[in-house]
Amino acid sequence: MKTSTNQSHDTRVCFLTGASKRLGACTARKFHAEGFNVIIHYNRSKSEADALVAQLNAVRSSSAFCLQADLTDSEQVQSLARLALDCYQRLDVLVNNASAFYPTPLAECDHKTWDDLFDSNLRAGFFLAQRLAPELEQRAGSIVNMTDTHADNPLKGFPIYSLAKAGVKAMTKSLAKELAPRVRVNGVSPGAILWPPSLEDESDPAVLEAREKMLGKIPLRSLGEPQNIADTVFFLANDACYVTGQTVRVDGGRYLV
Ligand SMILES: NC(=O)c1ccc[n+]([C@@H]2O[C@H](COP(=O)([O-])OP(=O)(O)OC[C@H]3O[C@@H](n4cnc5c(N)ncnc54)[C@H](OP(=O)(O)O)[C@@H]3O)[C@@H](O)[C@H]2O)c1
Repeated sequence: MKTSTNQSHDTRVCFLTGASKRLGACTARKFHAEGFNVIIHYNRSKSEADALVAQLNAVRSSSAFCLQADLTDSEQVQSLARLALDCYQRLDVLVNNASAFYPTPLAECDHKTWDDLFDSNLRAGFFLAQRLAPELEQRAGSIVNMTDTHADNPLKGFPIYSLAKAGVKAMTKSLAKELAPRVRVNGVSPGAILWPPSLEDESDPAVLEAREKMLGKIPLRSLGEPQNIADTVFFLANDACYVTGQTVRVDGGRYLV
């Protein structure tokens, strides 16, 4: 793998975990469109990551890289951080976006699912931040952590995921203190943006009914768009220069109901 480029070191760099598709990919496109070089981490979605990097490099050559790692493996997290720094010899923004998400009914919870959900959602982001902090401090950079509205109001049937996301919200405040004044750390808490796999089959009347029920709980009466998340992440990382330790809900007002 090539890990360095001839590009000017003046171009700012954003490293996003779990960004080969869905919200992460949309956020990577946003940073790229705003002139950043982007490093796209993936675990299993190599073809999607390769395709995204090819598209972005067709717009500006050598402006995107992808790196593979399983974030539940602590050694892979360490080497991922090192490789991310090697890509462009600078880093300005870390977006901790990767996440495993599946139900864990209380009676079936075990240490394996606990570790998988906590490591991918919380532990990896913490240790990436630790390892990348010196470079982010040098650049007066920032970190954005992706959490979930269910960090505050747990999703029934998903206790471990909900706890891990509550941890991400707490980590955001903790790292904001640890890394101030040079590095700002904020979070984005999406509500319903993309239908979960269980609600994807539009031909199933039960799915349509469940969707209607969910939309009925959202004051703005629609799902959000991935672009709403990408814009908020970019705002926090790039524009909100007097904001740190905050988690912004992007949920159509669902939390109010
Ligand atoms: N979508 C929503 O409506 C919504 C709502 C609330 C919160 N969020 C949060 O917003 C963020 C993005 O949401 P999303 O729905 O786009 O995420 P997603 O598709 O569920 O997951 C993003 C990526 O995380 C990676 N990942 C999972 N386990 C991993 C592991 N062990 N090691 C490395 N990577 C791993 C996967 O990469 P590979 O595919 O390469 O394996 C996956 O593509 C997540 O943090 C999510 O919790 C999303």
